Amino acid sequence: TETTVQLKTLIAQHENQPGALLPLLHAVQAKFGYIPSDVVAPIARALNLSRAEVHGVVTYYHHFHEHKPGKHVIQICLAEACQSCGSEALLKQAETELGCTVHSTRADQAVTLEAVYCLGLCASSPAMQVGERLFGRMDNQKLRSLLNQLEL
Ligand code: FES
Repeated sequence: TETTVQLKTLIAQHENQPGALLPLLHAVQAKFGYIPSDVVAPIARALNLSRAEVHGVVTYYHHFHEHKPGKHVIQICLAEACQSCGSEALLKQAETELGCTVHSTRADQAVTLEAVYCLGLCASSPAMQVGERLFGRMDNQKLRSLLNQLEL
């Protein structure tokens, strides 16, 4: 399949580097938008690791998605600075308004809601990210109008 060919290319580009696993997983996610479960075995084989080791790394890092994400990926920061400025309430609001719990994708595939741990915008807490775009100093109204803009 197309996926197999693309995966082979990515593996070939990375397999001889020391510590190839993380850069390879990043490349796979950049290509496919997530880490499809059927790439774990070929990656393990190529890097001489067990499947459990590869799977463990995928699940350990919040950055990696195991399922195809929705059209929009919304990440709300729950690290300390943002939490102290009310990001938990923002996350609850997002869950309610989107009809989607954190770490999941809505059934219509329109949106994936995630928590993240520091976006480097602590001075503008609470912070969140939509796709590649960062937003600081969020509040309930700004979140509402952002979701409206995204038609979510
Ligand atoms: Fe949220 Fe750093 S703690 S951006």
